[in-house]
Formats: sequence, C-alpha cells, structure tokens
Amino acid sequence: MSNQALLTPFHKNLDLKNRVAMAPMTRSRAANEGNIPTEDLHVTYYVQRASAGLIITEGSQVSKDAVGYINTAGIYSKEQVEGWKKVTKAVHEKGGKIFIQLWHVGRMSHPDFHDGELPLAPSALNPNAKSYTPEGFKDTVTPKEMTIEDIKQTVKDFKNAAINAIEAGFDGVEIHSSNGYLFHQFFNGTSNHRTDEYGGNMENRTRFFFEVLDAMKEVIPQEKIGVRFNPSLNGMFGITLDEETIPTFEFIIKKLNDYDLAYVHLSEPFNDVSNVPFAVEHIAKHFRPLYNGTLMINAGFDQESGNKVIEEGYADLVAFGKPFISNPDLVERFEHNYPIAEWDADTFYTPGKEGYIDYPEYSEEN
Ligand SMILES: Cc1cc2nc3c(=O)[nH]c(=O)nc-3n(C[C@H](O)[C@H](O)[C@H](O)COP(=O)(O)O)c2cc1C
Repeated sequence: MSNQALLTPFHKNLDLKNRVAMAPMTRSRAANEGNIPTEDLHVTYYVQRASAGLIITEGSQVSKDAVGYINTAGIYSKEQVEGWKKVTKAVHEKGGKIFIQLWHVGRMSHPDFHDGELPLAPSALNPNAKSYTPEGFKDTVTPKEMTIEDIKQTVKDFKNAAINAIEAGFDGVEIHSSNGYLFHQFFNGTSNHRTDEYGGNMENRTRFFFEVLDAMKEVIPQEKIGVRFNPSLNGMFGITLDEETIPTFEFIIKKLNDYDLAYVHLSEPFNDVSNVPFAVEHIAKHFRPLYNGTLMINAGFDQESGNKVIEEGYADLVAFGKPFISNPDLVERFEHNYPIAEWDADTFYTPGKEGYIDYPEYSEEN
C-alpha cells in the first residue's frame, strides 16, 4: 500500500478514493452534428481514466451561444444528455466519480458558430485571437456587448445545464470561470469596459458569476458545484493582468466561504510570470489561507510536486491534465512509481481514436 498524499482517500464534503483529479480537457471528439458525446469514443476514454479520484470532463457548452470550437460537447440538448448518460453510467460502474465542466466561451468564438451573428461578451472588445471554425482557423471578431437580457438568458442557460447534468448522471458540475472565457472576461478590466452594474468595481465585475452560482444552487445542491479560476493568466486567451486582477480573485474566493461548494479549483500560472506586473507566482500558497473549503490545484504538477503540495497543506486535491491524456492509468503509475508516458500534442484536438483512446496502460514492454 502506498502512503503517498495523492493516493490518500478524501472524505470531507466529497468522498473520493484518492486525491488525483483529471483536469478538464477539450479533446474535440464530439459528433460534428449536435456536439454530442459518442459511445465509441467518449465512453471508452473516460472509463479508461476511472481510477482518478474525480474526473472533470472537457468543457461542455451550456447553450448554442456558448460554442466557440468545432466538435466540442454540449449539455443543452436531449441528445447530448443521452450521450453523457452512457459516459456517467460506465464510469460509475468502474467505481469512478465524474463532474461535467460547464462552459461558455463568450468572445472566444466566431460568427460562423452563430448563423452569422456576433459572439456575446461583456464588452465589444476583440480578443485578437484565433477561432477554430469548421473552415479552419479564423481571426476573432469584435463581439456584441451583452444586453441585460442576454445576461439573464445566460444565467438561465447555466441553470438549465446544471439540471441536465444531474439528469445525465453526473456527480456534480464545475463552472468554467477560467482561462479567458466568458466569466473571466467579466472579471478582467481589459475585457470588461461596462458602465452598468456588471462593470467597474470588483463587486460589479463578479456579479454575473455569483448570479449564475446562485441560480444553479436553486436547482442542484451546492455541494455538487465546483468552480475554476486561473488568477495569474496573462498574455493568453486575450487576458492581460492589471492591478485589480488579483484583488478581484481574492474578493471572489473569500466570498465563496459563504457557500458550501464541492471545491474551488485553481490553476498555477500557465507561463512564466516572475517578471509580470500584478501577477502572483504561487497561486496555491497565496489563496489557500483565504479559502476554508476544499481546494484543488492544477497546472504543471507531477507525482512529486503533487504529493508535496498536499503535504504542505496548500491543497486538498491535485488535478492533472496532460499526464492523463497519455497515461489512462495515471493513479496506478503513481502507486507503483512506474514511468509516465509522454503525450503527443499533435493529437490533442484531432478527430478519432488516435491519441485519444489508444494510449496503453503501463506494462514492461511499453
Ligand atoms: C488538450 C487540452 C485541452 C484543455 N481544455 C480545457 C478545458 O476544456 N477546460 C479547462 O478549464 N481547461 C482546459 N485545459 C487546461 C487543463 O485543464 C490544465 O489546466 C492544463 O493542461 C495544465 O495542467 P497540466 O500541466 O496538468 O496539463 C486544456 C488543456 C489541454 C492540454
């Protein structure tokens, strides 16, 4: 029996067989028509990884408006719910737990996904990024500033997606409020220039997020809701740090102590921010003292640093992304100190089985 911190069961508000979570990852294998998870691909992929303490699925759109990439799954149609039911059933049969990540890309999209209409965003500010459309990469456009009606409709979409997620058999949901997508666009002053109650001070910039959270907890227990943030994201996904960014995340995370959520999931910086003004370099260390609930940390961890961050008391759970792509049996590899297989970035988003469900479990031959 291994006594590694990562492999210790977690029995607090969540009941997990170990502290190794699979991070949410878009893999672009959903059926082209209808953004539906498929039996031959999705079921196999997630079942192969069911020894994780908790799987968090790929970002899954809460509505048609929320789409920004081809072949990404959704959780707003009946067919999508039916597709996901097969995944959750099979993962549960293997003794796994699975949350679905609820996603709205906001301005990280393209009119090609919206019958020629502009994507929605807090303000009409182009992220100057690329959108991967059915016709290949295209430049993003200046989005439409969301009206109050658009905001209210999106709150309803998240609420509805939460209901659908439970119907589909998920153990819970994670709100994707990270990585430059819709909520992050509201939080950040460089993407939110609104002058109404959704812009300006941090209470206003976070209002939409809390409205969604409050709406969701009306329909599913809040112990089934996790949230994800990437506070030091900079120079990627259209986001630039400013002097209010970290205080805004501090404000959010302290306020979340008033809730009883499944967890708060934070990412360490995705790139070197040691010389970036207004960045926090060590996210877990910085935010752990501010939050009383279950804290999950991610980005760049391996077996050693994952064990250490838990032992040092900076996190309860560690999410692994890329290592789970190429090591379906990541937990067993940690348990036996087996080597970790490298992932192939060329097949992260390509269609079909290759680079998706063909990574083998460890054996002495591979
Ligand atoms: C192929 C790929 C797809 C990703 N898709 C998502 C996503 O849908 N939602 C999300 O919150 N993060 C997404 N991420 C970020 C990962 O969850 C994770 O934060 C990142 O890979 C860093 O963790 P790692 O070093 O353990 O891989 C993605 C990352 C990769 C490599």
